[in-house]
Amino acid sequence: MQNTIRFVLDNKIVDVNFAEFPELKPTTTVLNYLRWLPTHKGVKEGCGEGDCGACTVVIAEPDNDGKLIYTTIDSCLVFLPMIHGKQLITIENLATDRNREQVLHPVQQTMVETNGSQCGYCTPGIVMSLFGLYKNHNNPSREIIYDALTGNLCRCTGYQPIVEAAEKACSLRGKDHFSEYENAILTLLQEINSNHDSLGLITEKQKYFKPFTYQQALRLREENPNAIIINGSTDVALRQTKKKELLSEILDLSGVTEIKTFREEDNCFVFGAGSSLEQLRKFSENKLPALHEMLNVFGSLQIRNVATIGGNIGSASPIGDMLPLLFAHGASVKLNSSSAERIVAIEDFIQGYRKTALADNELITEVIIPVPDDESQLRAYKVSKRKDLDISTVCAAFRLKLDKETVTEIVLAYGGMAATTKHATNTENFLAGKEWSRQNVEAAMQILTNEFAPISDARSEAQFRTTASRNLLLKFYAETKTN
Ligand code: FES
Ligand code: FES
Repeated sequence: MQNTIRFVLDNKIVDVNFAEFPELKPTTTVLNYLRWLPTHKGVKEGCGEGDCGACTVVIAEPDNDGKLIYTTIDSCLVFLPMIHGKQLITIENLATDRNREQVLHPVQQTMVETNGSQCGYCTPGIVMSLFGLYKNHNNPSREIIYDALTGNLCRCTGYQPIVEAAEKACSLRGKDHFSEYENAILTLLQEINSNHDSLGLITEKQKYFKPFTYQQALRLREENPNAIIINGSTDVALRQTKKKELLSEILDLSGVTEIKTFREEDNCFVFGAGSSLEQLRKFSENKLPALHEMLNVFGSLQIRNVATIGGNIGSASPIGDMLPLLFAHGASVKLNSSSAERIVAIEDFIQGYRKTALADNELITEVIIPVPDDESQLRAYKVSKRKDLDISTVCAAFRLKLDKETVTEIVLAYGGMAATTKHATNTENFLAGKEWSRQNVEAAMQILTNEFAPISDARSEAQFRTTASRNLLLKFYAETKTN
């Protein structure tokens, strides 16, 4: 096992052996590591929970074609070993020297020209999001620009000059001094990644394992059944950053490329559990439109770039936006141990509040979504206090199949209404076989009123949740009625 993490920073390979740096631990976040260095203080901590983007940095890593891909991440949510074998790019790296003069990166230059630079707290993160946009898009639409900036909060003035800076800068097909050094960086990354041994970072208080193959992952799972499994860590990291919990054993699957794949097989879409939600959002655009719409308002780009479908399901959150959709799609999950494999319907996998059917030697390896048939209508709805970067108060996904006007299949799945995602079973049973009419839907809404006993919390009163759940059904009817 390797006991040192290695990544590229400032165009050089950096080695971190935790035994040599008592100030650092395996779950030190990339943000805190950078703030610890004397030379990278541009990155800021605003919220420490993925809400503000002040900590945005960019990670570069080779894609399947051997080219570098650049992704923005919230460095407050990512543990240092997760960037092993990658290039870490911070605000300090954007400007370059030409003939002994500092030349700003195009995104910095246009921020100056449009007066987009506002306070020193948010601007470095905003510029890093613009840099990620610059490397991935040429002449992006407003929609793409807004999405790239959704994860960066500014409370002082406004976004207009920043959007203008983005429009002005992103017209050079990502060309910049990073393109010039791409081959040299790829060589450094290759040197690091040629060692396929797992990482085993053992300190007095923590054990952190990072496998690079599927087999290594299954073996480490079996040997460390109590380790917390992470992939993007967007949920688990909060236990440390917000609750100050010491995470004593971690199994980090973010380096296992075999579970980041996708295939279409036996009339199903099969996603590796390590597929990021952003990969899924792009894939689903024409194939799973309700899922796509939901992912458009899921967190921010920085979060979707690292959060995975397996992690989202595994956290079994009662307010996770994916689960109602997976219920409505009739999805299932594949669970593997080193000696067995089983496929479990998503409803059976979720067993209680943050409780799943995963055995302590198993990993979620695939999520299987049947290709929707042409006759089914599927919609998803999210009710939250604001549209972007917010947690659902109520989330619902519905599927309906009609024979003329008669309901032959109906699925009503709700999040935020109980301790787990749940079917509104009584309401489903009432509507099955009935005419899809306003009168029947209104009667179903009465049943729905007593179907759940939601809680009141910071997001809303219980009564609001009940009313919202009823009204979402009515909205679904209005959107699907036949006459
Ligand atoms: Fe706010 Fe990281 S510090 S998103
Ligand atoms: Fe920091 Fe607006 S740029 S609050």
